[in-house]
Amino acid sequence: MRYYISDLKNYVGQKVELRGWAYNVRSSGKIKFLLLRDGTGLCQCVFVKAESNPEAFDVKFPMLTQESSVKVIGTVREEKRSPGGYELGAEDLEIIHVAQEYPITPKEHGTDFLMNHRHLWLRSKRQHAIMKVRSEIVSAIRDFFDGRGFTLTDAPIFTPSACEGTSNLFETQYFDEKAYLSQSGQLYMEATAAALGKVYCFGPTFRAEKSKTRRHLIEFWMVEPEVAFNDLYDNMELAEQFVEYIVQRTIKNRPDELAAIDASSDPSETKFLPRVEGLKNVKAPFPRIHYDEAAKIILKENPKFIVGDDFGATDETIISSKHDRPVFVHHFPTPVKAFYMKEDPNEKDRTLSCDLLATEGFGEIIGGGQREDNLDILTRKIHEHGLKESDFAWFMDLRKYGTFPHAGFGLGVERAVAWICGLPHIRETIPFPRLYGRSYP
Ligand code: 4AD
Ligand code: MG
Repeated sequence: MRYYISDLKNYVGQKVELRGWAYNVRSSGKIKFLLLRDGTGLCQCVFVKAESNPEAFDVKFPMLTQESSVKVIGTVREEKRSPGGYELGAEDLEIIHVAQEYPITPKEHGTDFLMNHRHLWLRSKRQHAIMKVRSEIVSAIRDFFDGRGFTLTDAPIFTPSACEGTSNLFETQYFDEKAYLSQSGQLYMEATAAALGKVYCFGPTFRAEKSKTRRHLIEFWMVEPEVAFNDLYDNMELAEQFVEYIVQRTIKNRPDELAAIDASSDPSETKFLPRVEGLKNVKAPFPRIHYDEAAKIILKENPKFIVGDDFGATDETIISSKHDRPVFVHHFPTPVKAFYMKEDPNEKDRTLSCDLLATEGFGEIIGGGQREDNLDILTRKIHEHGLKESDFAWFMDLRKYGTFPHAGFGLGVERAVAWICGLPHIRETIPFPRLYGRSYP
């Protein structure tokens, strides 16, 4: 029988064996404390001289260093002051490995040092909590779409052409041909949507962005639903229900982790603590603002903004600061959006696109819209964007054989994690971040 710290409440009064790592060790004469970490939680193991194996107490315990791996046998008891509400009256200790001097200590470490030790940094309380929240968000994403009749149709990672512009493509060799790492699975979802109606893909995507910002990863995970016969407005409705679902489920299922992240956050970097309070408002419907209206709002606070341009981080913050929940901006100008965005038939220089801006200046978390389903317009756009028609022959086929209105969007998982956890930088949202200038460890 294997026992985990998170389950100890079920074993009060029983003798159990725990396996894990020494998070902290201290002794005061006849009583010794081992704070044990097993991945599911923390448990205080209390060794009292009179009650534990003398060899464990006198010989083994003093050998323990931070992160040594051990087995501890003892009896579970309730203890309100203990981290998980339970502790172990320890009787025996077996050392699996005495850890060398651990590089990460409770003192402050610089970001670069922590990033170089990411493989160990993940063991800290804060990183543990972030990974639990990320995992919850990922499950919520899958459950949302699976529960609504969507079919998962994952897209390839090696692709023959660009989807989101050519400036940030990762080129690689595919035997004798060139290939690119996928920037988005969307184009493939348009094909599977015609086969299966409601589809999504969920996988890693790549952008060779030579910039260091708090929002950009080189490799990030994106979930991309696509729905046949949805228009721009159906798309925003789906997106807001989706975001409400993942946020509300995460704050319901992971309050302890969100509180642990709050407790380890620098209050000067995160405005809205506690996190859970701010996120309670994230309920559909979300405000929807036409690009032209958004541009007017931005201009009042940022006179340098040029109408027709895409938004910068400052501009997004101006818009989001007016609301207690995420905001859609729709109808972006045609020149700032990708070739596949449908032109609004009534406003030809505007697209049926929508971005969702998270609260508190966390910026764009979703990009999407209705797709160009007219073959002639799509062909023109491919040329206007300097793309090769032959690369997109298969994509154009979708407009030849029963073309159909359709729409979808992409949510960047790490942007969502940063927002929900209130993290000032995206680097902590993924186990091993790939950033400009960093691919180790
Ligand atoms: O706005 P983007 O570029 O849209 C697309 O790729 C569409 N093809 C999606 C679709 O309609 N199926 O990216 C979508 C989202 C952004 O809103 C952002 O959350 C995230 O992906 N994202 C990034 N996240 C981290 N690092 C980067 N470099 C990102 N680039 C985009
Ligand atoms: Mg975008």
